[in-house]
Amino acid sequence: MAWYAAVAYEDLAFNTGKTIRCDATEVALFKLSSGTIRAIQNRCPHKDGVLAEGIVAGEHVFCPMHDRKIDLMSGLVQAPDTGCVTTYPVRIEDGQIYIGLPAAKEMAS
Ligand code: FES
Repeated sequence: MAWYAAVAYEDLAFNTGKTIRCDATEVALFKLSSGTIRAIQNRCPHKDGVLAEGIVAGEHVFCPMHDRKIDLMSGLVQAPDTGCVTTYPVRIEDGQIYIGLPAAKEMAS
């Protein structure tokens, strides 16, 4: 696992997504009303809508392109649509949010 420094916890707005680039991977980062941080792949599995630009409601984000509803905890697209997005682990250290991605050699295997 490789950990990427994203943004300070205090600098991330509630219920508004932020695009974070971790080398070649684009991640959508969210701070929910509860204060929970979630990180998911930034592109919708339907037609690549930018999920960081979606509307957050509770623990879900609605894709800005065609309104598919995605669970930020599991990454699952909600019925009647199907599919899922990758979710990434996060940790907070000294007020800084870090996103964990598989290391390059883990992704190759
Ligand atoms: S691109 Fe996300 S719902 Fe169509």
